[in-house]
Amino acid sequence: MNALSQRLFMVKAYLRHLLRSKSLDSVHPPFLFELYSEVIRNRHPYYAFRKIESLRMLLLNSEETLKTIDLGAGSNVLSSKRKRVRDIARSYAKNPIYAQLLFRFANHFRSKNILELGTSLGLSSLYLAMHDSSARVITLEGDPQTADCARRNFERMRVNNIEVITGPFDDTLAGALQQIGKVDLVFFDGNHRKEPTLHYFKECLQHADENTVFIFDDIHWSPDMQDAWEEIGRHESVTSTADLFFFGLVFFRKELSKQHFSLRA
Ligand SMILES: C[S@@+](CC[C@H](N)C(=O)[O-])C[C@H]1O[C@@H](n2cnc3c(N)ncnc32)[C@H](O)[C@@H]1O
Repeated sequence: MNALSQRLFMVKAYLRHLLRSKSLDSVHPPFLFELYSEVIRNRHPYYAFRKIESLRMLLLNSEETLKTIDLGAGSNVLSSKRKRVRDIARSYAKNPIYAQLLFRFANHFRSKNILELGTSLGLSSLYLAMHDSSARVITLEGDPQTADCARRNFERMRVNNIEVITGPFDDTLAGALQQIGKVDLVFFDGNHRKEPTLHYFKECLQHADENTVFIFDDIHWSPDMQDAWEEIGRHESVTSTADLFFFGLVFFRKELSKQHFSLRA
């Protein structure tokens, strides 16, 4: 899929999402109603937001370059090239609105054991970690220099509850899950292809319970990712899903009936 057809695919998916997405009145389950009204539609700023956004500004203006590897098909290193930190910050990091939603979700669900697949420079990891200094975030990054840069960013922010594990997800995910035990929240933000995404989902599922929440990034990025998202929604353990277009939320709570919501973030 070239860049133009990928963009067209996303535009069509977005228009479909706008037509399908529901207003607050039609979200009936109380759990989802509360989540939508108090978390997703809430724009209340927290103190941490300003601190993390100042770091984003520094990274967006940075002259530093990193020798990065392209992980391509999972664990195969395809190529290595120098990239500017400012370009990585611009193209990979979640934008503030979605990144801040991660903070709000972790805060709302009081998530203590958090796993992230795809650290990049660590901006989303900071949002996941800074709602509660006693929470623990493990974040996985395949590219060693990017992972080191994220570690420096956590030190610079004096945030001590994030651990970065370096290596391809195929090599690091199982060990990270062993370390965590039961996961409260998982943010899937790397290797956006169908089979790997389904594989990561199934591995994380072994460490989930009724209250766990999975958040998938870029669920409409490609037909492949959209297929993965639909298959996840059909999985027997999943009770409800909420499609916010850029994020897909997956719930396992027994009180929810099998329902899929499209909501405007
Ligand atoms: C979109 S970026 C993550 C952005 C970050 N979550 C944020 O919002 O600030 C995805 C990251 O996942 C890493 N990645 C992609 N495929 C991977 C794989 N198979 N194993 C390990 N890391 C991978 C990339 O190196 C990249 O840094």
